[in-house]
Amino acid sequence: MRWLSMDNFLLITASYKLVKDILKVSDGEEVIVTTDTGSDFQVALSIAQASMALNAKPLIVLRNEAPVVGKAMDKYIPVNSLSAVLSTADVWIALDRSYLVYSTPYERAMSVGKVRYIELSGFNSDMMVRLIGNVNVQLLYEFQRRLAKITSKVKKIRIVTELGTNIEFENDPQRPVLTEGEVNGPGEYMLFGQVDWAPIEESVNGTVVIDGTIWPPIGPLKSPVKLRIRDGRIMEMSGGPEAKVLERWLRDLNDDKMFMVAHVTYGCHPYAKLSGNIVEDERVWGSIVWGFGSQSSTFKGKIGLASSHVDAVMLNATIYGDDQVIVKDGEFVREELQDLARQLKGA
Ligand SMILES: [Fe+2]
Repeated sequence: MRWLSMDNFLLITASYKLVKDILKVSDGEEVIVTTDTGSDFQVALSIAQASMALNAKPLIVLRNEAPVVGKAMDKYIPVNSLSAVLSTADVWIALDRSYLVYSTPYERAMSVGKVRYIELSGFNSDMMVRLIGNVNVQLLYEFQRRLAKITSKVKKIRIVTELGTNIEFENDPQRPVLTEGEVNGPGEYMLFGQVDWAPIEESVNGTVVIDGTIWPPIGPLKSPVKLRIRDGRIMEMSGGPEAKVLERWLRDLNDDKMFMVAHVTYGCHPYAKLSGNIVEDERVWGSIVWGFGSQSSTFKGKIGLASSHVDAVMLNATIYGDDQVIVKDGEFVREELQDLARQLKGA
């Protein structure tokens, strides 16, 4: 571990910003930091130190990295102990590389409804500094709100890419378009840099060609994976060997919900790049992420929890909302987004 370096200065600054400005940790609050053996322990320590500076009471929980995520990970983790800790805490910062989202401890903690939980799976020092420390968070929240507003007014969406994506779906105006990362009371929060929603499941029809990352079970792709989707369900996977890996992994879970489209997401973090960490990859500016399997209740969709969840990142997409272009070749093109986009990217 590097205790005395310039990195530590920047890491503690980012950690302090996370607990103070983003999670709004206050005097005496119990802050749980969960991490696993696949993660950077230095980050957990730094967040605990920053919490101490706010007179909060941090506790770090370290466990072994699990080979799977979601419900399927229950047999690898201390379900009861984790459930107890996470259900009673005020704040939960999750650094676990094998993330706990959709696991039983997660489900129990969310049903109690006390904790303010943010998912930062596998965050290392560099990610803390680049994706949290360096960002004008208020500006990004405003960008997300404007993008969500544009999207919530749209009924029909069509997405195409040069690699052959051509897919359409409809939105339900009763379902929310979520702007991630704005912490406001108890609940489940993802890092900012994403706007996501659940389309009407059975309206999703067409082909998507994934060229970024699929996690789990793969990571950054060597060659594109093509998914043919009918009525919101993956019917066929094709491409190189990675398509076979995905298909085998999905079939082994023996859960038809794993093939269902759970969410569609815009990535809009100005400093995210394809790094192999899904939390960063699914925030790449102008990317589109397809989620399959477990669907958080916050989306107000029809799927609910499944045995696991997969995120598939698609780059350089063009997105039409009711025939108006929202994103062109991976760049947000609507006029009301331009000034904020420029400022966020420091252009
Ligand atoms: Fe997802």
